[in-house]
Amino acid sequence: MALKKLVAGNWKMNGRLADLPEIQAIAAAAISHGDVDVALGLPATLIAPACAAAPGFAIGGQDCHWAASGAHTGCLSVDMLKEAGASFVIVGHSERRTDNHETSLDVRQKAEAAMAGGLLAIICVGETEAQRDAGDAVSVVTEQVRASLPVTAAGGAVAIAYEPVWAIGTGRTPSAADVAEMHAAIRAELKSLLGQEGENIRILYGGSVKASNAAELLHIADVDGALVGGASLKAADFIPIISAAKR
Ligand code: 13P
Repeated sequence: MALKKLVAGNWKMNGRLADLPEIQAIAAAAISHGDVDVALGLPATLIAPACAAAPGFAIGGQDCHWAASGAHTGCLSVDMLKEAGASFVIVGHSERRTDNHETSLDVRQKAEAAMAGGLLAIICVGETEAQRDAGDAVSVVTEQVRASLPVTAAGGAVAIAYEPVWAIGTGRTPSAADVAEMHAAIRAELKSLLGQEGENIRILYGGSVKASNAAELLHIADVDGALVGGASLKAADFIPIISAAKR
């Protein structure tokens, strides 16, 4: 059975209080697109104001620490995100793997903490252009899935976001055939790790998703949604992507 699609925005280091009306417009569209799950990963400073401005809409963070509290300057725990109103958290985004030197072990520990606290963990994986050119994309990504996924992962608790690093913010996307090949490989890996439960985990595609390519990308086999960066910042750009996810 096909999984309900999830279209999530990742606002990265963008968004101020002045942008709350955009969030409200996206939340209103989410209500009118009830057959698609819609969510926004916001900078931590906007989580509580956004939850107050758009009650009931799925707001999340973009990272968490795996510890519950302690001497980790600048970090946020799962409980802190939950207290602010978050219902999910993105972990292991390639920008964090690169900028903050996060390893797949770090990512797994963060995903475990999110699961334990009841936040959906969106676990990001993806190859670099050099890895794809070398013919290693599938092996790199399936290894990231193996190393980043909690052993107790389940459909309601985690999602995978396949984001080729070279497609993020570049306007370039893999061919439909390459997306299909990668999502099938991730699905096979999930099933080999988790058995039947591997069928229940949503696999999102991310990297230069926009209104003009969303319908094609979102209807490839085993693409169960999208993780959208730049095109999620404005309701006018994001809502057509939500619409494209409808069957
Ligand atoms: P863009 O949609 O801007 O390419 O970003 C994708 C991304 O990194 C989402 O997490």
